Amino acid sequence: MIDQRPASWWDSAVVYQIYPRSFADGNGDGIGDLAGFRARLPYLAELGVDAVWFTPWYPSPLADGGYDVADYRDVDPRIGTLAEAEALVAEAHRVGLRVLLDLVPNHTSIDHPAFRAALAGGPGAPERELFHFRPGRGASGELPPNNWRSCFQGSAWTRVTEPDGTPGEWYLHLFDSGQPDWNWEHPAVRADFEETLRFWFDRGVDGFRIDVADLLGKADGLPDADAWAPGPKPIADQPTVFEVHRAWRRIADSYPEPKVLVGELWKDDPELFRRYVNPHGLDGGFCFALFTTAPDASALRAAVDRTRHVQGPDGHSPWVMGNHDVTRPVTRLGRRVHFDAWNRTEEPSDVETGTRRARALALLTLALPGNAGIYQGEELGLPEVTDLPEHTLQDPVWERSGHTDRGRDGCRVPLPWEGDAPPFGFGPADDTATEPWLPQPPAWKQLTVAAQDGDPDSTLTLYRAALRLRRAHPGLGAGELEWLDLGTGVLAFRRSSGFSCVVNLSGEPVELPSHESLLLTSGPVAAGRLPVDTAAWLQSPVVEER
Ligand code: NOJ
Repeated sequence: MIDQRPASWWDSAVVYQIYPRSFADGNGDGIGDLAGFRARLPYLAELGVDAVWFTPWYPSPLADGGYDVADYRDVDPRIGTLAEAEALVAEAHRVGLRVLLDLVPNHTSIDHPAFRAALAGGPGAPERELFHFRPGRGASGELPPNNWRSCFQGSAWTRVTEPDGTPGEWYLHLFDSGQPDWNWEHPAVRADFEETLRFWFDRGVDGFRIDVADLLGKADGLPDADAWAPGPKPIADQPTVFEVHRAWRRIADSYPEPKVLVGELWKDDPELFRRYVNPHGLDGGFCFALFTTAPDASALRAAVDRTRHVQGPDGHSPWVMGNHDVTRPVTRLGRRVHFDAWNRTEEPSDVETGTRRARALALLTLALPGNAGIYQGEELGLPEVTDLPEHTLQDPVWERSGHTDRGRDGCRVPLPWEGDAPPFGFGPADDTATEPWLPQPPAWKQLTVAAQDGDPDSTLTLYRAALRLRRAHPGLGAGELEWLDLGTGVLAFRRSSGFSCVVNLSGEPVELPSHESLLLTSGPVAAGRLPVDTAAWLQSPVVEER
């Protein structure tokens, strides 16, 4: 039995998340694609991240932005081809970037051939056993089989029309009705996913981010419950999920350089977390603590301590400030009350304050022990787009909530690369006409890559400098942290090799502690005082470390 994983490139890695439809458009149809990504590869190499994670690029009817996968071993024709994907992996490797894909194992798409066969087979067909089909409750089966709710609101069950035209069984979907849940008790489901893992690993892919990694397997009998309530629940943490992850670990470790498996996984209980993240399971889980924490020194310190306690020293779980599901940090941090990124709110935001804080917390995130993640556009300081016209909204949450929740499109708006007006170079250089699939705000002309490139004060320059330092400084990445007490409202800690990070959230400028040199600051420092909402990376003389 191995109790500790060998050191890996992943341990200190910074992973950059690509939302393929919004990164760069190579063919001018308004939708980001692999050609666009390949053309922008030098940008990522220069940025200085270690890996990219692509949210799903597979064929999909887009009931949930691609998290409804119709074919796990191909690329959506709107995004590219398999041959381009293979070329992309090779090119990324050539510039020193690893590539992670998104594995979506809890559910598939209603367009997946296996689900179509299950529908066509009718009640009792063996093809239905790959999913959770059940007769309804009530005199004529008109009520769903249990009371589970979809994560996107509404029932987690949809009734099908049988091949003979009559209303029939119901199928389970913990997300949208376009995303039927697989039955992980079925050996054919397990075998098929193992083949998918090998398929991409054989093409050089370095690992997977695993979507809702804890949901595979449901409690026997699918008992009624508040399915998403905190604590033990029938949809998560079932024995099956651990068996599946172990099998995947064996496959991942069978390659000369073990592949990375990192879960979308948030567990607040150390024992439960380590049942997932251990040498026989996952390498880590994305760590969402910073999503919900106010820009307040003691709250942030408590969140970091709690996370480190839960994960232990070997939980190589990226610290992240945002992703494609939550309010962008600039907007979240510019608010006065609502700091929970999951909770979409109408509270207005002050972009200037939000930008200052997001820059400061970027330095915090990149200085914490372990790995870190950057969601595309954070390095440009993009805000959430809160006023997308209703007819452009695509997130299923908008429809399923009866138009009360605008959903997650506001953080998925295509990136601005250059120029003074939309589409800001999102498409090919000679194409100024095609509208990106979600409209970009005209004000983004100040935030384009070109506008920020070479500007010493830009957020892009800050990220580039921070990532360069992070790679070079022996005190950053994996390792320990020691808190420093610099007074109320100031978050400060020391790493090894003389590195320390100070974040001033106190409401007034503070004296910097003594140091040998100022490595980097997220805003201007005057007369040795660190302004409000600003972070500094400091170098002190290296004392002999035990
Ligand atoms: C988590 C993904 O990040 C999100 O975008 C998706 O809607 C759900 N899982 C369901 O796949």
